[in-house]
Amino acid sequence: MTKVSSKHLLGIKDINADDVHLIFNTADTFKEVLNRPIKKVPSLRDVTIANVFFENSTRTRLSFELAEKRLSADVVNFSAGSSSVKKGETLIDTVNNILAMKVDMVVMRHPNPGACVFLSKHVNCSIINAGDGAHEHPTQALLDAYSLREKVGDLKGLKVLIAGDILHSRVALSNIFCLQMLGAEVAVSGPATLIPKHIHSLGVKVMLDFREALQWCDVVNMLRIQMERQDIQYFPTLREYTMQYGLSRQLLEEIGKKDIIIMHPGPINRGVEITSDLADGEDSIILNQVENGVAVRMAILYLLAGKPD
Ligand code: CP
Repeated sequence: MTKVSSKHLLGIKDINADDVHLIFNTADTFKEVLNRPIKKVPSLRDVTIANVFFENSTRTRLSFELAEKRLSADVVNFSAGSSSVKKGETLIDTVNNILAMKVDMVVMRHPNPGACVFLSKHVNCSIINAGDGAHEHPTQALLDAYSLREKVGDLKGLKVLIAGDILHSRVALSNIFCLQMLGAEVAVSGPATLIPKHIHSLGVKVMLDFREALQWCDVVNMLRIQMERQDIQYFPTLREYTMQYGLSRQLLEEIGKKDIIIMHPGPINRGVEITSDLADGEDSIILNQVENGVAVRMAILYLLAGKPD
């Protein structure tokens, strides 16, 4: 198979396991390119890509821009904060104006869940979802699963715990879909107020006791508390949250947990959901995730641009 099944990458829910394996195998090739002295290939020469960000980003935005440049695409960047959106222009008008300048693909981050799906129905180009509200963040899930595959090989039967603010997390939902598609078992842990009520229906284990959850898992993916999405108070204080759900070496030693793989999508709130010694320690693959993000995004851009060499 040399083509993905969809014109867009709107969510993991919309792609299949063959697509994921194709993306991973293509990313392997691009990872090899990224380790060469000249980290650039001409695959997307004459393709113009707009990175349209209505929400802040460090990793995703830089990673997409680097991926695009490594593929020799022409790149334009749009930030809502310094655009005519501030004067009342709509999403569709904004993107259609960008497309009128002969842009071929759009990578979009938006605070509203479903914004990328909505856009894909109104414009005639490939859309890649770079995170839509608390809905999906498909490229993050793909780079997370790719990094685990690199570390452990086959993900079948791997026990992955996602811990923290599950309720407001697009990373959690995309990771659940992607990991289950690849045969991993997924559990979530966090305060009951930050666990979506119907998450059981996705076949996910809910383990409110963080110690018990850590005993169960092979991998823990620590999520930050998304204060910017919280309209009410979901737990008494940040200090109490850290005492119950913060990952520290002391906690791992207390429960006798060894051989755990530690992940985080970033940005990290050091000392809140994870201590610095663990985030930067030998069990952490956090920077591998960031590194792999470029190769995985190159693969996605290349496959969706439909320009095989
Ligand atoms: N992981 C992630 O999406 O980070 P940014 O918000 O910095 O892009």
